[in-house]
Amino acid sequence: MTLEPITDAPKAIGIREATDADLPSIVEIVNLAIESSPYVWTEIPTTIDARHVWFDDHRRSDHPILVAVSPSHGDRVVGWSSLSTFRGRDGYRFTAEVSVYVHPAAQRQGVATHLIQAIDEAARRRGLHALVAVIDAEHSASLSLFRRFSFAERGRLAEIGWKFGARRDEVFMVKLLGAGEARTT
Ligand SMILES: CC(C)(COP(=O)(O)OP(=O)(O)OC[C@H]1O[C@@H](n2cnc3c(N)ncnc32)[C@H](O)[C@@H]1OP(=O)(O)O)[C@@H](O)C(=O)NCCC(=O)NCCS
Repeated sequence: MTLEPITDAPKAIGIREATDADLPSIVEIVNLAIESSPYVWTEIPTTIDARHVWFDDHRRSDHPILVAVSPSHGDRVVGWSSLSTFRGRDGYRFTAEVSVYVHPAAQRQGVATHLIQAIDEAARRRGLHALVAVIDAEHSASLSLFRRFSFAERGRLAEIGWKFGARRDEVFMVKLLGAGEARTT
C-alpha cells in the first residue's frame, strides 16, 4: 500500500479497536520499520499468519490492539498500538508492555499521540498498574514520545540487541497508573 503524505489535522485521525481486516495494514507498517529502522530489533519480516497468532493471543489475554485511521485516505490504517503481556508470569499481571507504530507517511502528525492516549485509557479501564515501553537507547523520537506521556527511564541494558551489524542498548521506560484505579486481584 503506497500512502501519500497525510495532511489531516490530528483531530481528524480516528482510533478504534483493530479487527482481522486490519492485519495487512499492520503487517505493512511493521515491515516498513523492520526493513529501515535500527531501532526495531529484527531483520525478519512479519507475516499475516504470524500476526493472526499475535491477535488471538491478545484476545485471549484481554490486551487491546488499537488502530489509527485517516478519513482522508478512505479510513486507511496509518498506525497501531497495543498492550501486551510483560513477561509471562502471573506476578506481572498488573503490568503491560506498550507498542506503537506509525506509517512513515503519517509520522509527526500526532498519530502516536492519539494512540498512546487511547492505550493509556484502555490500560486504566483494565485496572493495570504499570506500563512499560522497551526502546532502543538511540531512538530519540520514541523516547521523547513516551516522556511526553510521563513515562520515565527506569532501566538501561547495554549491548543486549543487534541490528544491521551493530550492538544496541535498550531503555525501559515505565509509567505507573493511578493507584486508586489499579486492581490488586
Ligand atoms: C516513534 C513513532 C511511533 C512516533 O509516531 P508519530 O505519530 O510520528 O508521533 P507524534 O506525531 O504523535 O509525535 C509525538 C511526539 O513524539 C516525539 N517525536 C515523534 N517523532 C519524532 C522525531 N522524528 N524526532 C523527535 N521527536 C519525535 C515528539 O516529542 C513529538 O511531539 P512534538 O511533535 O510536539 O515534538 C514513529 O516514529 C514510528 O512509528 N516509528 C517507527 C516504529 C517505532 O520505532 N516504534 C516505536 C518502537 S518503541
